Amino acid sequence: MEKAEIGLIGLAVMGSNLALNIAEKGNRIAVFNRSPDKTDTFYAEAGDLQGKLVPCKSLEEFVEAIRPPRPVIIMVKAGDPVDELIATLRDYLSPGDIIIDAGNANFRDTIRRFEGLEDSGLTFIGMGVSGGEEGARHGPSIMVGGTEESWKRVEPVLTSIAAKFKDDPCVAWLGENGAGHFVKTIHNGIEYADMQMIAEIYGILRDGLGMSAAECSEIFGKWNEGRLNSYLIEISEAVLKANDPISGKPMVDLIVDAAGQKGTGKWSAIEAQNMGVPATAIEAAVAARSLSSFKTQREAAEKILGLPGQGAINPTDKAAFIADLEMALLAGKIGAYAQGFAVMAEASKEFGWSLPMPVIAKIWRAGCIIRSQFLDEITSAFTAMPDAANLIVTPAFATMVKDTDGPLRRVVSAAVMSGLPVPALASALGYFDSYRRGRGTANLIQAQRDFFGAHGFDRLDGVDKHHGPWGSGLADFQNA
Ligand code: 6PG
Repeated sequence: MEKAEIGLIGLAVMGSNLALNIAEKGNRIAVFNRSPDKTDTFYAEAGDLQGKLVPCKSLEEFVEAIRPPRPVIIMVKAGDPVDELIATLRDYLSPGDIIIDAGNANFRDTIRRFEGLEDSGLTFIGMGVSGGEEGARHGPSIMVGGTEESWKRVEPVLTSIAAKFKDDPCVAWLGENGAGHFVKTIHNGIEYADMQMIAEIYGILRDGLGMSAAECSEIFGKWNEGRLNSYLIEISEAVLKANDPISGKPMVDLIVDAAGQKGTGKWSAIEAQNMGVPATAIEAAVAARSLSSFKTQREAAEKILGLPGQGAINPTDKAAFIADLEMALLAGKIGAYAQGFAVMAEASKEFGWSLPMPVIAKIWRAGCIIRSQFLDEITSAFTAMPDAANLIVTPAFATMVKDTDGPLRRVVSAAVMSGLPVPALASALGYFDSYRRGRGTANLIQAQRDFFGAHGFDRLDGVDKHHGPWGSGLADFQNA
């Protein structure tokens, strides 16, 4: 029998959809699931695609069915199940074969797994796949990390299944070991920031301007035709429009305001902190999700403290204020992406990956959750200036930061005065204000550090003097 080009283990929704996508693009694929019933059902429901599928009931049969060197995608629950499956596969696979983890793994685990397989002759690819269930089935964005040789083996299949932006496939090899999973993690960190900022703007529309879900939906619908055109704005329009079939009320009004999180946003923030690269919009978004989950505490606090600020926003020109909201969201987005890309640039040096910034922007233009027109603009900016210190100093984005500065400032001010929380938008503004100011205030922090810890400081005039003197203030304070 003709050998399969690739294999896949784990036929839950994401795995099944990815397998069907691979088969549909004309690639023969062997599939295996720990419980064989699932394999039977999957195969029975595959319709016309059955001809490209090789359902296997044992790992021996599965391995035998794939053309060596065998690429084997594993789509199992993140964490221990991945390590257990790798340990099992070591006994079945041969040198040169490639285990591909397509789940949302922590890139540090991916590096460990990659290194752990080195003595076996097997190799490992950590593959970030974005686009949810639909993306997996019809075209995800794919971020690959592993050896270049292993990438060459899987490139044709992955290129065939990836989403396309115009004609460009949204898949790329980004570097060795954990590069793909790292980039996927930052994608998710940006996804968190994007979603949080959209929710903050929704909060201003709902609580500041008193708009109904349907009215908010209409606004997002309009914005989706402009600069903010993106998947997340599009689905925001859709979810705000949907009504609950039981009560007839807007569905969004019936949902508990406590957001879940599986960890990728948090990993982005942690890695940013580890490297000393500010990712304040991402951090604010992660913290906002955590704070949202303190539902009972928030309700109790509202009773004790009351709602702050002036409550409603009453702009003199409502249409102009709504236009400001659109531009403020664009500004916040610029901050989040600038930070995400800066984190990747630093990680690239720290982990020796040479992450290609224009390529990353390119493969996020379609298929993934943060796909947008905006990413095409980032692609152009980084293509023209691949080593830019920061996205916001590239000519096109510098202009955008200047153009959206007024709206962002007005929106954050209005929200602050009305007591409406906008932590991610405000952190983006704080980031711009700090990043663009040549003379900051850390001179005082340096002086304080030197005062209490003799940590030393550099002088602007270059005079070789690295400590105080600080006078008698300390003695007076201690004696007080
Ligand atoms: C994607 C998504 C996907 C998933 C996240 C959501 O790119 O397709 O990011 O990976 O939806 O796991 O994560 P949270 O549950 O943390 O929001």
